[in-house]
Amino acid sequence: MKYIALVTGASSGIGREFVRQIAAAYPSLDEIWVLARRLPALRELKEELPGKNVRILSLDLSADSDLEVLEGRLKRERPCIRILVNSAGCGKSGPVESQKWQDASRMLDVNCRALTIVTMLCLPYLKKGSRIIQVDSGSAFLPQPGFAVYAASKAYVLSFDQALGAELKGRGVTVTSVCPGPVDTDFFKTGGITLTPLKKIFLAKPERVVRKALFDAEAGRSLSVCGRSIKLVRLLGRLLPQKVMLEITAKLFLQGKKELL
Ligand SMILES: NC(=O)c1ccc[n+]([C@@H]2O[C@H](COP(=O)([O-])OP(=O)(O)OC[C@H]3O[C@@H](n4cnc5c(N)ncnc54)[C@H](OP(=O)(O)O)[C@@H]3O)[C@@H](O)[C@H]2O)c1
Repeated sequence: MKYIALVTGASSGIGREFVRQIAAAYPSLDEIWVLARRLPALRELKEELPGKNVRILSLDLSADSDLEVLEGRLKRERPCIRILVNSAGCGKSGPVESQKWQDASRMLDVNCRALTIVTMLCLPYLKKGSRIIQVDSGSAFLPQPGFAVYAASKAYVLSFDQALGAELKGRGVTVTSVCPGPVDTDFFKTGGITLTPLKKIFLAKPERVVRKALFDAEAGRSLSVCGRSIKLVRLLGRLLPQKVMLEITAKLFLQGKKELL
């Protein structure tokens, strides 16, 4: 039986950091499968890890045909997936009425649909002790005017993870939702999102987010929250009525203070 880790979003940012840390922390894994669209970036990552059996899957998770390629590969090789990391994701900010529907569709496709399908495809190959790590976001904790579709897509992930975790309890497989605040990756550049001074203050390093996520996943925790800003948001979300939180976020994000946040 071949033991593997499968990481989506492996060509950059948080996903790439997961591959690096998994390679170092789990030397007994037979292979690490790295998935993203950009082949050169995946090749670079493979070269960075000599001596590790890194398998490249250059696939577009928004395409059904590519999801079928992953399904076929799993069916053929029947590995034991020790760790599944779903890190592929994207975000575009702005009021809903100013967004292109194609951008909203892309967020829903990658953040929700692909994450769900990849998880479902992997379920038959998870064994007792396997870990599912879903890279979610602090945006999952409350609706976010100005980032509505993205935050809603991440709330979906949190809900899905919690229900799935309960379903898998008897199998000894755990699901950990990783919910960081802003992280220093290409996410903002790719999504054309301005990194405002406040966000810069709370910007976490992917190394730290991933270290904590792997620790929390091994401890069987359902949630991994890294960063003071997002812990505070979560606390306020629990203490204040949602109506009040929405008024605050709408004021902050939509009414003239955009340059600060
Ligand atoms: N950075 C932050 O502030 C932050 C905060 C909270 C949560 N997150 C979440 O963290 C996760 C990783 O983001 P990141 O910060 O590491 O951003 P990133 O550096 O932009 O990485 C995004 C990854 O997703 C992959 N991806 C996007 N669309 C894809 C598709 N259609 N098919 C396959 N792969 C696709 C990209 O690979 P290719 O382009 O090569 O396909 C890339 O590897 C996302 O789910 C994001 O929502 C980020």
